[in-house]
Amino acid sequence: MFTTEQVKEIQAQAANWLNNQNNPIPIKDIALLRNVLRFNEYRYYVLNDPLLSDFEYDQLYKQLVAIETANPSLIVADSPTQRVGNSLNQQFVTVPHLVPMLSLDNSYNAEDLFDFDRKALELSGLAQIEYCVEPKFDGASISLFYENDLLVRGITRGDGVAGEDITQNIKQIKSIPLSAPFSSIGIQQIEIRGEIILHKATFEKYNQQLIEQGLSPLANPRNAASGSLRMKDPKEVAARNLDAFLYHVSYVIGRHPNGSDQLSSHAGSLDLLWQMGFRSPKEEKRVVLGIQGVIDYCLAFEAKRDDLPYEIDGMVVKVNSIALQDQLGMTSHHPRWAIAFKFKARQATTKLIGVEFQVGRTGAVTPVAKLSPVFLGGVTVSSISIHNEEYIQQKDLQLGDTVLIERAGDVIPQIVKSLPELRNGTEKSIAFPTNCPVCKSELFKEEGEAVWRCINIECEAQVVEKMIHFVSKDALDIKSFGEANVRKFYELGILKDIPGIYQLDFVKIGGLEGFGKKSLENLVAAIEASKQQPLYRLIYGLGIRFVGETTAKTLANSVNHLLDFASKTEEELLLLDDVGVKVAKSIQGFFHNPQNIEMLKQLEILGLQLVNTKKEVVEGGSLTGQSFLFTGTLNQLKRSEAEALAESKGGIILSGVSSKLNYLVVGEDAGSKLEKAKKINTIKIISEEEFIQLIK
Ligand code: IVH
Repeated sequence: MFTTEQVKEIQAQAANWLNNQNNPIPIKDIALLRNVLRFNEYRYYVLNDPLLSDFEYDQLYKQLVAIETANPSLIVADSPTQRVGNSLNQQFVTVPHLVPMLSLDNSYNAEDLFDFDRKALELSGLAQIEYCVEPKFDGASISLFYENDLLVRGITRGDGVAGEDITQNIKQIKSIPLSAPFSSIGIQQIEIRGEIILHKATFEKYNQQLIEQGLSPLANPRNAASGSLRMKDPKEVAARNLDAFLYHVSYVIGRHPNGSDQLSSHAGSLDLLWQMGFRSPKEEKRVVLGIQGVIDYCLAFEAKRDDLPYEIDGMVVKVNSIALQDQLGMTSHHPRWAIAFKFKARQATTKLIGVEFQVGRTGAVTPVAKLSPVFLGGVTVSSISIHNEEYIQQKDLQLGDTVLIERAGDVIPQIVKSLPELRNGTEKSIAFPTNCPVCKSELFKEEGEAVWRCINIECEAQVVEKMIHFVSKDALDIKSFGEANVRKFYELGILKDIPGIYQLDFVKIGGLEGFGKKSLENLVAAIEASKQQPLYRLIYGLGIRFVGETTAKTLANSVNHLLDFASKTEEELLLLDDVGVKVAKSIQGFFHNPQNIEMLKQLEILGLQLVNTKKEVVEGGSLTGQSFLFTGTLNQLKRSEAEALAESKGGIILSGVSSKLNYLVVGEDAGSKLEKAKKINTIKIISEEEFIQLIK
């Protein structure tokens, strides 16, 4: 990437500038200054072998910023300053991949690999095949496109055919060069595939921060990496310290004419990527002739996976010759020239030191095994759900037992079995409580069910869990509320039930530690925004047993108003898609409970959408796309008739005044809605007479 001459010049110049910091770096040296910074990024992020201290790097970086600020015309796209993004709220546009991003077939043992080899031998007619074996990085896959040496686009895998353009976020990853000298070998365009990863140490640190903030830790570095790539603010992406391994060249224009260049073998392309300044698995790869060597290398690498600073979940075996790869081709799912070798689930033994009984939002009491903390598959495991009483019996679990636990990929850790042969007589059987561990009321178990339940709907644990569910991402998605705040506000008596979420005393909250002006504003805005969430989210958020997101959508689409469910019979509910007897009974149970009806009425008064605004809109009506709200007493029409009339012309009925409202139709004795609407000048306030004219 840099010639020896250049490196010498870069090092000499950097030392010279740092020794004479009183003299600003002259504008004419801007190109050299950029190279000094690029070279040092490469040393630091790709080679892990920095030449300058962070402080020294920052001094030089600041000088470049100063020169570019004074002379904006000198800024170039691949200047080290151009990583910094300026869009705070990116929209990720979906773009097609030049070449579809296929996934790999999996193998789990030597036999699978022999099969893979046999098929490749048959298809090629060869006696032995040369393979290149490298780690299978456990992260989020991406595709990078360079044109005329410049990074022009970074795309997520998406569905394999098209992904999201996350270029601005990709630029925050310092081991990915903003430019690379492909033109020096005749390449004008190149698409490169790779994996964005998070180092184990970075992941642990990040999770630690989440725990300190009262948030749930992430399951694995892979989820953390893919979540990070889709963050709206590039600055936050930069703070995540992501890294990248590039392992595949999928498209080239301008390669060497006789095909004998480095790109004619997979190993050669990894070397080439390395030479161009990318972090490729150049050192980690191994070229071997014949499948036995492949198996040996895979197993040897598996034995050292825990020593690596990043997570891998297997190895990838690739036919080394690109010509042979082309000959073997691919199925619709995966190439015939490559296969993943998946490592076995990681296992560990530890002690079962206690059992805690947790009460969920539906009252289900779940035993959670407390374990002596043990490091397993990238995370420290100290507790594992052991589901129910039957499970405890099946696995023969006792307090004090040594247990074998396992974690396969991103799967939640599980107890495989206890090791009774290691018992010393001090173990104790696990007693399941007969009363709720929180509210002490008696527990019940329905026939045919394995779960014990607390049926006291005022049980504190259930109330809190219900609120946590209500604000959660898939429900009302009240950002920045979260589990920690629900618990905190509940404990302080600021919040006692779901309607309370919309009646919070922000003065009190503002006085709490950790609530600055900004976080309070965010919270207020998020709560307000949640009032406009579609009806199905509210239904899902109510946490009715057996009503998941899909059923919630079906339910929302079947009514005009949520309270219509109060008068629906079980038979009517059974007519709906994916509503069986169990679900119908549960829905009825919920809507026949006066406390629940009271809560819903309260929520409507507080401004939530109980009307199904997303219902099939009458296409082409004269009021299509216009929203209406009626307030006060109408003289000529009944409220329901007026609403039906508006809907019949394509209008939508809203349940509260907001900036989304187009018309407020005002009858006699209109109250607070009118006052509120007057403050939003986009709302047209009309009389009943004017409404009738509009309909006509
Ligand atoms: S090659 C057409 N090499 O594994 C070949 N993939 O399960 C494309 N992965 O989607 C893939 N490390 O995200 C390849 N060294 C490696 C890899 C690797 C991780 C991921 C990649 C792919 C998935 C397939």
